[in-house]
Formats: sequence, C-alpha cells, structure tokens
Amino acid sequence: MAILVTGGAGYIGSHTCVELLREGRDIIVVDNLSNSHGEALDRVAEIANRAFPVYIQDLMDREALRKVFREHRIEAVIHFAGLKAVGESVQLPLKYYHQNLMSTTTLCETMEEFGVYRLLFSSSATVYGMPDQMPIREEAAIGAINPYGRTKQMIEQMLQDLASSDPKWRIAILRYFNPVGAHESGRIGEDPSGMPNNLLPYIAQVAVGKLKEVAVYGNDYDTADGTGVRDYIHVVDLAQGHLKTLDKLDQADGLHIYNLGTGRGYSVLEMIKAFEQASGRTIPYRIAERRPGDIGACFADPAKANLELGWSAVRGIEEMCADAWRWQVANPRGYAGSVAYAEPI
Ligand code: WQD
Repeated sequence: MAILVTGGAGYIGSHTCVELLREGRDIIVVDNLSNSHGEALDRVAEIANRAFPVYIQDLMDREALRKVFREHRIEAVIHFAGLKAVGESVQLPLKYYHQNLMSTTTLCETMEEFGVYRLLFSSSATVYGMPDQMPIREEAAIGAINPYGRTKQMIEQMLQDLASSDPKWRIAILRYFNPVGAHESGRIGEDPSGMPNNLLPYIAQVAVGKLKEVAVYGNDYDTADGTGVRDYIHVVDLAQGHLKTLDKLDQADGLHIYNLGTGRGYSVLEMIKAFEQASGRTIPYRIAERRPGDIGACFADPAKANLELGWSAVRGIEEMCADAWRWQVANPRGYAGSVAYAEPI
C-alpha cells in the first residue's frame, strides 16, 4: 500500500517524500509543477536511492486523478498541493479560492470513490490570524486575515464536516508555523520563485550576494528587540511530524488538529545574527516600515503534538541556518540552475 503525496515536488512535500522513502514507505507523487520543479523529485529519488511513480497533473483533473487511484493501492494521502503566497492571494483571491478549494474537494471525492479515508492536510498557523494569546494552542480562536489563510480555514471546516458525516474518515489537520532550512545534503531546499517573500530565503540570498540587504519590517513591535518574532521549525522536523501523524491515524479515527512548531520564537534580528554565524557572512539590513497584515509575535504551544504524536522538533536555529546556507551555496539559482528535468521517474 502506498502513500499518495500531492504537491510532492514542493519545499515541504519533497522533504516529506525523502523521510517517507527512508522509512521504507512506498509513495506516489502528484504535482502540477505550477510552483515547483520536477528536478526536486529526481533529487528526492537520489537522496533516498529509491524510485517512485510521479504524475505531473493538476488535482482538479478528476479523470487523471481517478487513473492514479486505479493504478495503485493507496492507503493514505498527504495533501500539500496548493497556492501559498499570502501577497499574491490578496491580488488574485479567485485564483486561490478556485485552486485550493476545488483541488481539495476533487481529491476528497476521489478518495471516497476508491475507499481511501486517511488524509493529512497541510494547513498553516496563518489560520489563527491575530491570536490574542501566546503561545498558540490548537483551541485558539480561528480568524485568517488574508485569502490564502481563509482557503486553509475553509478547507479545515470542510474536512471537519466530512469527518462528521462519515466515521470511516481519519483526518489530521497539521498547522505549520514557519518552516525553514533544508535537507543536510544540500540537494533539496526552499526555492522561491522570484523575490523571496519569506525571511529566511531572503536572508540567504543577501548572504550569497544575490540581494543587497534585508528590510526588517518594523522594530516597534512589543517584542524583546522590537522586531517580529516567529516559530521557525526545521523542515526535516516538520517532515518527520507527518510520519508520526500517519502512525497516529493507524489507530485513531475522526479528525485531529496539531500545531507543528518548536514552541520557541526568534526575532528577525536574532535570525539575521544566527545566519551570520552559520554563513560567516555579514548580512546588511535596514529598519523599514511594518508589512501590512504582519503580527508582532507568533509561536506554537506544541504540547498536543508532543503528547499525542510522540513528536517534537529537535533541530535548533543553528542547524536551520547551516542547512539553509548549504542549500543556498550549492544552488544559487535554485533548481532552475540545474540540468533540464528528466522524464518522470
Ligand atoms: C517572518 C518575519 C516579517 C521578510 C508566512 C506566511 C504563512 C506561512 C509562513 C504558509 C515577520 C519579517 C520577513 C522580510 C522581514 N506560509 N520579515 N523582512 O509572515 O510569519 O508567515 O510564511 O503557510 O502563511 O504568512 O513569514 O518569513 O514572511 O516573515 O522583516 O524581508 O520576518 O515581518 O516578522 P510569516 P515571513
């Protein structure tokens, strides 16, 4: 029986595929490569020294998806595929609602048709919006404040209704905090298209000389040094959290929600300092205006995941920065700088 990974060519998806393969699991990847590179999948196979079926197609292509379910015995689905740029979602809300919601309904309907009822959904701490209590527990009020976050919130609600409608469903909603870093090999990593929106890839591109300086979005927040605080979690820790969640769904029915974070927040200035230590480079920065929609501090209370999944993040900020730096130096142009993508595996 195999695990179907949607969006397996993406940043978190590719790292999770490596961990699944290393654990001896069989996987199948479906990805439309709209925001990822097929090269990442070649490298996943290289790292894990195992081949796996890849289907380059959109999840909304129902007939193509039914073909995948006909051709394989699928025991569970990890659903990463989706559009995820907050800023773009504000500019193009319909694109986000259509893609993220319709791909998920098509997936769930096809799962139901083929009797596959185990689903892990890639959600985000962004569903908490402006939380009024820190650290954030899963019971905290939900209130996304941008279209991207609202698609995650709506999908979570849809999955709650689905689980309530039929006890056969076993669903885990995983709310990621701020994934950073890369596999220790430096062969896979975060490969933002265009100008990085997120802090760490931006810092890495400044460190390697591709960008001039970091704009620190505000230093007047109610935090120790005034700059934004986030719960950065190593992407491999996050990936391993998915394997623990699959184990949980082996014996737990119904729907379960988990925060996947470290429980520790770091400020922008602390991240810059940590990256300077990891890279040996000076990271120029300037204090800029706050970014609209940003909050001052956001970090998880991961106690529920620690207890119920037997999982916790083990990689610290030094390893996050060192692994991100190794990926950046080895791949200055991301996957685009590599040889043309070979035929699907
Ligand atoms: C982190 C901190 C910024 C860039 C986003 C998405 C969220 C999730 C994770 C998908 C903040 C500051 C950033 C820069 C800066 N993605 N910053 N200069 O906003 O916490 O979360 O990524 O699920 O949905 O919203 O991450 O890395 O953009 O920002 O000062 O050039 O760094 O203000 O305090 P964020 P981020």
